Amino acid sequence: MKVVIIGSGGREHAICEALSNSKKVSKIYCLPGNAGTKKIAENIDIDIENFENLKKFIISENVELIIVGPEKPLVDGIVDFFEKNKIQIFGPNKFASQLEGSKTFTKKICEKYNIPTAKFGIFKNTNDAKSFLKNSKFPIVVKADGLAAGKGVYICENKEVSEKAIDEIFNGKFGAAKCILLEEFLIGEEMSYFVISDGKTIVKFQTAQDHKRVGEGDTGKNTGGMGAYSPSRLINDSLDKKILNKIIHPTLKALEEMNCEYKGFLYAGLMIVQNEPYLIEYNVRMGDPECQTILPKLKTDFLDIILKCIKKKLNETEIEWYDKNSLCTVLCSKGYPDKYENNIIINNLDKIILNQNQKIFHAGTKNKKNTILSNGGRVLNFVSLSNSFKDARDSNIDMINKVDWSHGFYRKDIGYKVIK
Ligand code: AMP
Ligand code: GLY
Repeated sequence: MKVVIIGSGGREHAICEALSNSKKVSKIYCLPGNAGTKKIAENIDIDIENFENLKKFIISENVELIIVGPEKPLVDGIVDFFEKNKIQIFGPNKFASQLEGSKTFTKKICEKYNIPTAKFGIFKNTNDAKSFLKNSKFPIVVKADGLAAGKGVYICENKEVSEKAIDEIFNGKFGAAKCILLEEFLIGEEMSYFVISDGKTIVKFQTAQDHKRVGEGDTGKNTGGMGAYSPSRLINDSLDKKILNKIIHPTLKALEEMNCEYKGFLYAGLMIVQNEPYLIEYNVRMGDPECQTILPKLKTDFLDIILKCIKKKLNETEIEWYDKNSLCTVLCSKGYPDKYENNIIINNLDKIILNQNQKIFHAGTKNKKNTILSNGGRVLNFVSLSNSFKDARDSNIDMINKVDWSHGFYRKDIGYKVIK
């Protein structure tokens, strides 16, 4: 079977690799891909926002399955488009993708179905939002409604900072803003919780803890994710049941009552407060770097899982995992998440000899002749599986030390909450 993967990050490289382990996959195309995917797939530089053009490519190459990595095409309705054209595609449709695309859509579901989440207000204009601040407790969380590529969330310590955030959002910093959310600040520990759903059956797909802040000890600016470990230290049977019964099932029931079946990965970003889960946000895809952390633990054929999901037969699958801990460390361009330079040669990558518990997934990389150049903020993901998180982290640092690229930096403390 020929498969197309849409996206170009570490997540997509990990997906490519998981698929390449399946005997039933004859060819993988990655659109547009990176220097890592190029080794196992054919990278195609095509505008992924132009669905008609994509369709021409898919049909001319006899592609039988499309897997979508990032949220933007999902929110834009890529699944609806290809389903209408009778081409198999994995991911939620446009309606369901509002769970990530619109924070107010999700909050309204939480309200109606009693799903635990931070207390919130939705405001349609600057004046209403600002007058609400008069009686608010600080810090308060100010959020833009739509997709903001991981930005658009402000944790505000006082009224002045909150007002500035409100102005920035309504002035269009993250695109035209019809409304804004003001949210109670929750104190707890974050956890990423994944399931795969075919509309009838929900199967758990591991937990992880991301490290969003750029600096060690969780300091500095928010990033796309500097590293992750899996499983999360917070998960236990009673918490697991609460997450499924209080958050995941009611959400999918809400969609069902709106005549929508959820098909694909669903990623709940949770705040855990004294073993109680609160929903912070939904993502309608795998996480990045959580995906790179989790997929190397998968024992079951990934293609089989995806196809079973599309055919609504997830109830027939038993997903098996290697009983190992996994830890991912992200190597970034100096300056990230602010300004950084691209097109810097990365040497030695091909010389690193990996054992079966080590992986390197590319993110912001590209090829130029026979060299690999940096091409983004998050550049490479180093992943190790081990019984011990400490050994996994040491193994990642060992790999990173072999890379010859003076423009990179990384957090040496990934997993510090599980490593003494
Ligand atoms: P979001 O894009 O909604 O996931 O928010 C980005 C980050 O902001 C989250 O990963 C949290 O670290 C933080 N955050 C968002 N909402 C809240 C909240 N209500 N309380 C505390 N932290 C929050
Ligand atoms: N790890 C954060 C995200 O994928 O949104």
